[in-house]
Amino acid sequence: MDAIVVEGGHPLTGQVRVGGAKNSALKLMAAALLAPGVTTLRNVPDISDVAVMAEVLERLGAHVVRTDHTLTIDATELTSHEAPYDLVVRMRASTCVLGALVGRLGRAHVAMPGGCNIGSRKIDIHVAALEQIGIEISTEHGYIDAEGAAHGAHVMLDFPSVGATENLLMASVLGDGETIIENAAREPEIGDLVAMLVGMGADIAGAGSPTITVTGVGTLHPVDHTVVGDRIEAGTYLIAGALDSGPVTVTGFDPDHLDIVLQKLERAGCVVSRFADGVTISRTGPIHALDIQTLPYPGFPTDLQAPFMALLALADGGSVVTENVFENRFIFADEIARMGADIRIDGHYALVRGVAALSGAPVRSPDLRGGAALVLAGLVAEGRTVVTDIHHIDRGYEGFVDKLRGLGAIVSRVDVTDPETA
Ligand code: EPZ
Repeated sequence: MDAIVVEGGHPLTGQVRVGGAKNSALKLMAAALLAPGVTTLRNVPDISDVAVMAEVLERLGAHVVRTDHTLTIDATELTSHEAPYDLVVRMRASTCVLGALVGRLGRAHVAMPGGCNIGSRKIDIHVAALEQIGIEISTEHGYIDAEGAAHGAHVMLDFPSVGATENLLMASVLGDGETIIENAAREPEIGDLVAMLVGMGADIAGAGSPTITVTGVGTLHPVDHTVVGDRIEAGTYLIAGALDSGPVTVTGFDPDHLDIVLQKLERAGCVVSRFADGVTISRTGPIHALDIQTLPYPGFPTDLQAPFMALLALADGGSVVTENVFENRFIFADEIARMGADIRIDGHYALVRGVAALSGAPVRSPDLRGGAALVLAGLVAEGRTVVTDIHHIDRGYEGFVDKLRGLGAIVSRVDVTDPETA
């Protein structure tokens, strides 16, 4: 069992480069299924979720080859339309092959995702949207069966769901007629998917706005596409720099994609300098308390709620954190409380009363972002912090320990069976 051991109190400074966005790369891999032939994806992070998605594509008959950060996906012939439970249960995002399989083959048999550590995460919006464009859906024995060809429709999503927007895009792009998606998600990863689909020959307008219009085309061709930089990985290292005093420079992403987070970091007392593909952050005074509420993009990203809460745990007053996207994303608060943080949870509100210092402790990574946030807390805590269950962190952060070491952190990955004695 691997754990991350952090010795707190060592200053962070220097430069770190982020990779391609996990939440884009996974969907782009699914989109490659839409075109027979060999698609090339560059800037693909080397993380376990990408490895699981590669397995999903292989089970469908595609051939995936990784060379460094480049993936080639040969989708010339698909031999299956099933995304089986053993893979979907390992990574919920594999349900994004639903739209791509419907688009390419006119049918899909995809295991229903269950709940996960951050909430129940239903799929009803995906299903309702696909039905509106003419796909027949039935659910039996834990699987979603989808069949049919998209005929175009005016679809209003109940919520700007990232996954539902992506499935709808991929299911409609090869269909007939015009599909108008209202209340579409506006995340930069949607923009990246649309850019790739347009590169493949799709006709899509309005990405980045709440209304996306897809006009079906007859065929798509393979493409060579570079994954957009990971704004959440970038935000994680910037918050690390804010917790410490920095300066820390993070490159490889578009600062506009983190606009509200950078504004909040400034209000928390940090000096933030933006440049074309990155940001430098430093802090000399105290961390100021402030409120955040998570919302779909361009609101504050739920994926940075836990790291930001680690920052507010050391602020000069009380902050309210409101989680509006996932109902169960405060488990991290119970773990950081073991390090001395003072956090009260009431439904989807967390009241964070800043404390003078955190103390290192054995803690358990509750999920991907919560796990990373605990490591950040450990960087500024007194003494040693041992974070277990780090397979969650491996899902989304390539070389997390090495990148933090590059910034001067005293952090290592060890094999432990008992975190108390690590
Ligand atoms: C994506 O999840 C990301 N995952 C998440 O990142 C991210 O937190 C989330 O978008 C919001 O930005 C991937 O891209 C792989 P949603 P997704 O559909 O697509 C509810 C990380 O740490 N909902 O926008 O699943 C849902 O339960 C991960 O990298 C329905 O009720 O997000 C949730 O409460 C975690 N019915 C909310 O909407 C549906 O049919 C947002 O979900 C669909 C969603």
